[in-house]
Amino acid sequence: MLKTEWAEKIKKLKQEKHAVLLAHYYQRPEVQDVADFLGDSLQLSQAAAQTDADIIVFAGVHFMAETAKILSPAKKVLIPDRNAGCSLAASCNAGDFKKFIDEHPGHTVISYVNTSAEVKALTDICCTSSNALKIVQSLPEDEKIIFGPDKNLGNYIKSITGRENMLVWNGVCHVHEAFSAEKIVALKEQHPEAKILAHPECKKQVLLLADYIGSTAALLAFSAKDETKKYIVVTEPGIIHQMQKKSPDKEFLPVPPGNAHSSSIEDDCGACNDCEFMKIIDLEKIYLSLLHERYEITIPEEVRKKAEKAILNMLNL
Ligand code: 13P
Ligand code: SF4
Repeated sequence: MLKTEWAEKIKKLKQEKHAVLLAHYYQRPEVQDVADFLGDSLQLSQAAAQTDADIIVFAGVHFMAETAKILSPAKKVLIPDRNAGCSLAASCNAGDFKKFIDEHPGHTVISYVNTSAEVKALTDICCTSSNALKIVQSLPEDEKIIFGPDKNLGNYIKSITGRENMLVWNGVCHVHEAFSAEKIVALKEQHPEAKILAHPECKKQVLLLADYIGSTAALLAFSAKDETKKYIVVTEPGIIHQMQKKSPDKEFLPVPPGNAHSSSIEDDCGACNDCEFMKIIDLEKIYLSLLHERYEITIPEEVRKKAEKAILNMLNL
């Protein structure tokens, strides 16, 4: 079946079931195009908290769908493929994180939303790459912090704030970690007029090359308002679809990974650094998910309540 036919079937079924489709910017272009709401992880958690739909289909990864369920427990939240995980969330196991917190009493725990509900339940305030700096800066300077799970984002924030009383968990996202400074420099030599845009989950040596560092939504907003005509995009290439839509006259160059990591993904970007967890979802899986109301996200109420508190502490800020 053609992509346009799947998209039509999804639209019809969404109406019949009073469902809403939320999609992250790293999703396949055709999935982004059929979504009711598109955003970065912060915007999607806000949208999930506000929707009045009966069913939320989450075209993103598991922790994002879990966040939607935490904020909207009465709604049915579906993820179209149960294997849509996240290497960053997987790098922070709740048991190990609890041990770390117990070993360092007196610290306020800030966790990136890229974590399981169990890790969120151990957290005081959640954050995303959009608001991590603001959240750290909202705490008194002498307040000790545990920041998890992304070490690159944590160390980036430490370098901006000069905060020494912040312990950073040793987790990474395999996609952002795979970008190499050498490949970016080579691309910049070929396109000296291009600006380098990077996500803070990238390594320090990559961030040092960047003209602008920001969350997925911040990179998109910057590329739309900036005067430059060419950009080297150092994050998951799914975002380029929206960058190109907002700025059809500009050129956006994806960066291949330093080390190949992903399974072969059928898209228009053969050598791209795709997140295979994001790209595992396609239109057919979304349609079947809605049709059979699978795969439903469930969270024990005790865990959900604690995790909700940490997310609401973030949203209220
Ligand atoms: P954003 O907070 O920029 O949406 O990032 C989510 C993510 O998965 C980054 O890899
Ligand atoms: Fe997780 Fe990285 Fe994929 Fe984002 S890009 S969902 S952090 S594995």
